Amino acid sequence: MSQDLFAHKSKSWDMNSKRVKNAKSIAKSIQKNIELKPTMRLMDFGAGTGLLSYFIAPCVDTIVMVDNSPSMLEKFKEKASEFECKTEVREVDLTTTTLNEKFDGVISSMTIHHIEDQKELFTKFYNMLEEGGFIAIADLDSEDGSFHSDNTGVFHFGFEQEMLEQIAKEVGFKEIKFELASTIKKPHKEFTVFLMIAKR
Ligand SMILES: C[S@@+](CC[C@H](N)C(=O)[O-])C[C@H]1O[C@@H](n2cnc3c(N)ncnc32)[C@H](O)[C@@H]1O
Repeated sequence: MSQDLFAHKSKSWDMNSKRVKNAKSIAKSIQKNIELKPTMRLMDFGAGTGLLSYFIAPCVDTIVMVDNSPSMLEKFKEKASEFECKTEVREVDLTTTTLNEKFDGVISSMTIHHIEDQKELFTKFYNMLEEGGFIAIADLDSEDGSFHSDNTGVFHFGFEQEMLEQIAKEVGFKEIKFELASTIKKPHKEFTVFLMIAKR
């Protein structure tokens, strides 16, 4: 089994109020841009403890929590009964596994910087979406590498939006747009978080 890179962080993950605020802000941005429906089945890619999904749950039928960290998913499972929608868990590494399922949308927060190849990832998302389905992906704008105190497992110091837009176009996504979803203040610097929306 591969190493759980979040094992030491999972216990206190939800205690960081900046993280909760960030997830809430991203969820608000998603709700503003996407007409979420009570019949929808979504995937939360890199769901972790479920911070983002918690705020999206009241608007949809089911969220499938996809994550390769057993410890983060364990934390999610402890509070799953408090979610206002059905939830399911898939403990998988999406870079090496393909889920044979379809979704109305993929949501994700602060995860794609842990993935080396965005084109491969977006292609997987595209193939797992129903026709007309959406992706709503939030992550850091380009940063200088000082966001994480330890960059183990970090493949990208944030992203240039134009680069992600180009990749999404090449994969076949339409109606691609970006907005500022959140800002994260750290003692040394402020970081911005974008939300990227696109449709299949
Ligand atoms: C920074 S955390 C974000 C967690 C949550 N989305 C949030 O906003 O609190 C990144 C998450 O992505 C997961 N992750 C990283 N690479 C992954 C992969 N290849 N497949 C599935 N999950 C992955 C990690 O285990 C971790 O839980």
